[in-house]
Amino acid sequence: MGTHPALMFFLLFSATLSSSCDGGKVLVYPMDGSHWLNMKILVEALHSRGHQITVLRTSTSWYVSEFSPHYTSITVIQEQPQNIESQDFMTSFLERSLEIRQNEGSLWAFFEFYSNLFNMVRENHKAVVKVINSIFENKTLIRELNETGYDLFLTDPAFPAGVILAHYFQLPLVLNVRWIATGEAHFAIAPSPLSYIPALFSQYSDKMFFFQRINNVIYHGMLVYMHYYIAIPPYQAICDRYFGNDVNAMTLTQGADLWLMRVDFTFELPRPTMPNVVYIGGFQGKPSKPLPPDFEDFLESSGEHGVIIMTLGTLLGDLGPDKSEIIASAFASLPQKVVWRHVGKRPVSLGSNTMLIEWLPQNDILGHPKTKVFITHGGTNGLYEAIYHGVPVLGIPLIFDQYDNMVRMRARGVAEIVEVTTLDAESFTSALKNILNPEKAYKQNMLKLSQLHHDKPIKPLDNAVFWMEYVMRHKGAAHLRTESYKLPWYAYYCVDVMAVFVAFGLVITALFWVSCRCCIRCLMRTKKPKQD
Ligand SMILES: *[C@@H]1O[C@H](CO)[C@@H](O)[C@H](O)[C@H]1NC(C)=O
Ligand SMILES: *[C@@H]1O[C@H](CO)[C@@H](O)[C@H](O)[C@H]1NC(C)=O
Repeated sequence: MGTHPALMFFLLFSATLSSSCDGGKVLVYPMDGSHWLNMKILVEALHSRGHQITVLRTSTSWYVSEFSPHYTSITVIQEQPQNIESQDFMTSFLERSLEIRQNEGSLWAFFEFYSNLFNMVRENHKAVVKVINSIFENKTLIRELNETGYDLFLTDPAFPAGVILAHYFQLPLVLNVRWIATGEAHFAIAPSPLSYIPALFSQYSDKMFFFQRINNVIYHGMLVYMHYYIAIPPYQAICDRYFGNDVNAMTLTQGADLWLMRVDFTFELPRPTMPNVVYIGGFQGKPSKPLPPDFEDFLESSGEHGVIIMTLGTLLGDLGPDKSEIIASAFASLPQKVVWRHVGKRPVSLGSNTMLIEWLPQNDILGHPKTKVFITHGGTNGLYEAIYHGVPVLGIPLIFDQYDNMVRMRARGVAEIVEVTTLDAESFTSALKNILNPEKAYKQNMLKLSQLHHDKPIKPLDNAVFWMEYVMRHKGAAHLRTESYKLPWYAYYCVDVMAVFVAFGLVITALFWVSCRCCIRCLMRTKKPKQD
């Protein structure tokens, strides 16, 4: 039986139709620095599924390159890099943070810590506002973006520029998120009781004593202050001008269709969530590739002792000469081989068992069977790779969320933490020996965590792609979003309802009291004549 020409035509027609549906147009407003490394993974995954991606970047961008096989870029002129986009600024911010940390525990250090953070954030918000303004003022660019007819806006809302643009173009909005401008993302949309949810910078786990809970409320209070006085106001002029004064940067963020949360509950502490939150923590995880021969030989030469790998992230090459000497001499006293990503001067006390390099294939070494311990600053990219490959961790947390991340790992029994400001060879070596000691079960715990992390119906990255396509197919996902963010606070907490109940109760009590008094009086009046 020959194929009917009409059927043939129908098949061809439906093939072109479905392919035009599959290939969506996605506009991306990323955040620079290590956040871009995350976003890039999503961009590449979307590209491999046949979507067309446009990335908005600034002319002073640190990590986001202008040319890529995976996306086309649009460059917005920015006169001066934002402070989070500048290596020099971040290095000095880190130095200042560590100085402050030396006096940790004092009230002075507490306020210094927040003032350092607030200044940094405030300056950056100002720069972001300038970028949004220069996009809005460029009518050619606005028309171009509007005419392209994007199907989806993908952004990292740590600074809310993308959220504002998405609202302007009325595009379905998906967030690739762990942090928003005012702290951890769940706090913006899901109930987050401070009795068991540790605030950012508190360094608590989900079990807090009474006094820790008092502190937890104070730590959260600082972020609430940041919300109202630092993070939200700079954007209000733009919101007033383009959208009217009933919206602000926060409500626009809360109005997002879908939250791809870079969280996995093998790592994060359990907490309430929402139907439009999709957990993609560990989506960067991938199997390791074979190492270059010189690396492979070095790792294999470690024999039964195995290998320690150390890197302090993309931001920081080393901890300065003094700390580097301490670390080098501690490594030299160990039987293990060490691969150390170190950018500064070569330490004098470096042992022959230690290989210094300026860049290392982190994922491939973590996946190598000889690797025993991962020494890290505690950024989530590295921690998820360690969980993926089941390698226990020694944390030297430095800034931002890194302490809190390491506290979570320690609570799972898969990590130890050393304090950078008081780092000495003895504590460093003993922490390493603990982790290497099979009796202490760090390795078993980490393997267990790794199993839990892998035991999923769908890989986190595939899940992320599914949900982005879902939002494109349905032109949003408003049916998954609660209405909570549109309520004023007194309605959210039912304070108005309680007030009515209390008032009603008071009226009843008053009526009861008045009628009792009447009854008693009447009784007395009726009794009196009898006595006469
Ligand atoms: C406005 O946008 C267009 C298109 O992207 C670009 O060519 C032009 O340089 C921009 N103008 C300014 C002043 O940034
Ligand atoms: C985009 O274009 C449409 C149709 O031409 C128009 O109605 C809409 O106002 C434009 N939006 C913006 C933000 O310019």
